[in-house]
Amino acid sequence: METIDWKSLPFGYMKTDYNVRCYWRNGQWGELEINSSEYINIHMAATAIHYGQEAFEGMKAFRGKDGKVRLFRWKDNWARMKRSANGIFMAEVTPEVFHDAIVKAIQLNPRFIPPYGSGAALYIRPTLFGSGPQVGIRPALEYLFVVFVTPVGPYFKEGFKPVKLQLVKDCDRAAPQGTGSIKVGGNYAAALKATERAKAEGYANVVFLDAKEKKYIDECGPANFFGIRGNSYITPDSETILPSITNMSLRTIAEDMGMTVEQRHVAFEELDTFEEVGACGTAAVISPVGKIVDRETGKEWIFSKDGNAGPVSTKLYNRLRAIQDGDEPDKFGWIEVVEV
Ligand SMILES: Cc1ncc(COP(=O)(O)O)c(C=O)c1O
Repeated sequence: METIDWKSLPFGYMKTDYNVRCYWRNGQWGELEINSSEYINIHMAATAIHYGQEAFEGMKAFRGKDGKVRLFRWKDNWARMKRSANGIFMAEVTPEVFHDAIVKAIQLNPRFIPPYGSGAALYIRPTLFGSGPQVGIRPALEYLFVVFVTPVGPYFKEGFKPVKLQLVKDCDRAAPQGTGSIKVGGNYAAALKATERAKAEGYANVVFLDAKEKKYIDECGPANFFGIRGNSYITPDSETILPSITNMSLRTIAEDMGMTVEQRHVAFEELDTFEEVGACGTAAVISPVGKIVDRETGKEWIFSKDGNAGPVSTKLYNRLRAIQDGDEPDKFGWIEVVEV
């Protein structure tokens, strides 16, 4: 059995032993199936391939100091996948099928759950798509729900360091009243070109503005935006961003720390007034943002002069990670301990 160097693992895919699958046919979900293949045999006219009937989730499980494996906020990921399914007319996964498939996928791959203190975690990727064929544009009559897991390394290998983002106005990831608030593959395809351009130009990711007025901050690549000003945690309210479960958690923690939480439109000019900025999501929890550059005008906003994350972001990050690892009591009821 190969040994895994947990500390240098990327945020990427590694083959694990088993995945769990479940088909929706004839109007109902079948039994969970355990599979050791990384491949799925589907019809070439599957609606996922032609019409984008595909949604996914991303969540993590962590091994604690006590050896217990903690799954973070799975019910919120289930609820979001239900909304995604509903948004592109797919069969909705029941909470029982979702939960049991995730737990089974963790339990079947215990040797891939990273040890406490490594900074690595077991990433869980529930995926739902139309596997049945259609040539006319219609929803599929068959859906496949598959859950695979893969260990992912600590996001910040050199420590919790700020990144550079590029603000773009010539690309939208989602339209008003479109699919921006659900986790469907098409949103990511729409963002790829601007994201890869930003990376080629030396940035970690992009900041998208609202598609209609190009005035308000929307999504930060595959993460939500927040800014810190004084005692306030400020994050956009928008119909085109994905409601991040990390952001929800940080808002709760910020309030618990006595901060004021503002969820409202955030004009990008307000960047002038923030002391700290971060991008939040499952992968990194918080990516502190050191600098944002407007690609069109060249205007720069600097949030970190010394190359370090700000004190509030650091505190928020440490508290959320401590809850996930079981180092702090789960006072908000976010954790399920999975027997492995
Ligand atoms: C577009 C987008 N926004 C925000 C997030 C952060 O969401 P979460 O905190 O639930 O991972 C993600 C990642 O899932 C994402 O893909």
